[in-house]
Amino acid sequence: MKLLTIPGVIDVHTHLREPGAAQKEDMATGTRAAISGGVTTVLDMPNNPIPTSNPLALKEKFKLAENRIYNDLGFHFAATMEALPFFEEVKNQVFGYKLYMNHTTGNLKVTPEEAEKIFAHIPNGKTLIVHAEDETLDRAIELAGKYRTKVHVAHLTSKQELMSVVKAKKSGMNITCEVTPNNLFLTDEDIKRIGAYAVMKPVLKTQMDQDALWEGLREGLIDIVATDHAPHTIEEKENSENSPFGVPGVETSLPLLLTAVAEKRISLETLITVTNTNPRRIFSIPEQLDTYVEIDTSQKYVLSNDKIVSKCGWTPFAGMQIKGKIMSVYLHGRKIVDNGKVFEQPTGKIITPAI
Ligand code: DOR
Ligand code: ZN
Repeated sequence: MKLLTIPGVIDVHTHLREPGAAQKEDMATGTRAAISGGVTTVLDMPNNPIPTSNPLALKEKFKLAENRIYNDLGFHFAATMEALPFFEEVKNQVFGYKLYMNHTTGNLKVTPEEAEKIFAHIPNGKTLIVHAEDETLDRAIELAGKYRTKVHVAHLTSKQELMSVVKAKKSGMNITCEVTPNNLFLTDEDIKRIGAYAVMKPVLKTQMDQDALWEGLREGLIDIVATDHAPHTIEEKENSENSPFGVPGVETSLPLLLTAVAEKRISLETLITVTNTNPRRIFSIPEQLDTYVEIDTSQKYVLSNDKIVSKCGWTPFAGMQIKGKIMSVYLHGRKIVDNGKVFEQPTGKIITPAI
């Protein structure tokens, strides 16, 4: 059997939920799920119940990760008014600052006035990650131009948003963007079938939008595929009055992308660029030696909830046919996944940006 070998996937957008919401996921279960899916580095978002908006909260995340993580893990910092005085102090410890300009899980949404102050205060060379949808994205791009802020646009969902980013890129701005597998493999038409398990922010868009995102990937206009891994428990999702936004994705991303390669929707080269080369360059992620994934491209299987490693135990992609099975994953020279199963102890490292 001839195996395909690719570099470990870097997922720059995950919510590992710890501290504060470990019923959904924790650092051990989230990184275990990730490595089972060929993801060897994850970056964690700051929208915990007590947000990562000061050095103490950040320190707590570093502490919680010690000896518990299965892949390499780094952190993003909140971009709120409480966090702003600490931007300089934490800059060598965090990969990005996350700004919420629209409503979603957590309590980090800022006012337009606050957003402007934040754009103006991102330390030189550091990246502001924006959750900005539709017209709000245009406002974010305007502010990035005004303050010359390096901006990364999280989860693009529409053709319109892609066009806004492409226009900004062409004007010479320092702007990059990501797309999630949610938006590449699901559309608004799937919401009827999947219900609460397809509810997320931004919401799923149309087939026309999805087609534009695939085209953007093929043309090299979209820099990164990141999952926005946002697990919630089945009980929480089933609560019809208060069903939270977000879906898990860290372990299904590479299988779905491998399927896209098998179906010739993107090239293998593009897959490696958007899952490894670009994320490493954009977020200054340290090099991982002897870290790679071995894939049997001939194997087919169907994604199902009972095989999910994440603590949440479900996937919006259940029922989808996958082409290409992850056989082994090596992290820093050690085999962590064997025959598709995680068997090693947690040997991941806590990472900080490579200078
Ligand atoms: O659907 C989402 N869920 N979108 C976000 O921006 C946040 C995430 C979460 O933390 O649950
Ligand atoms: Zn997110």
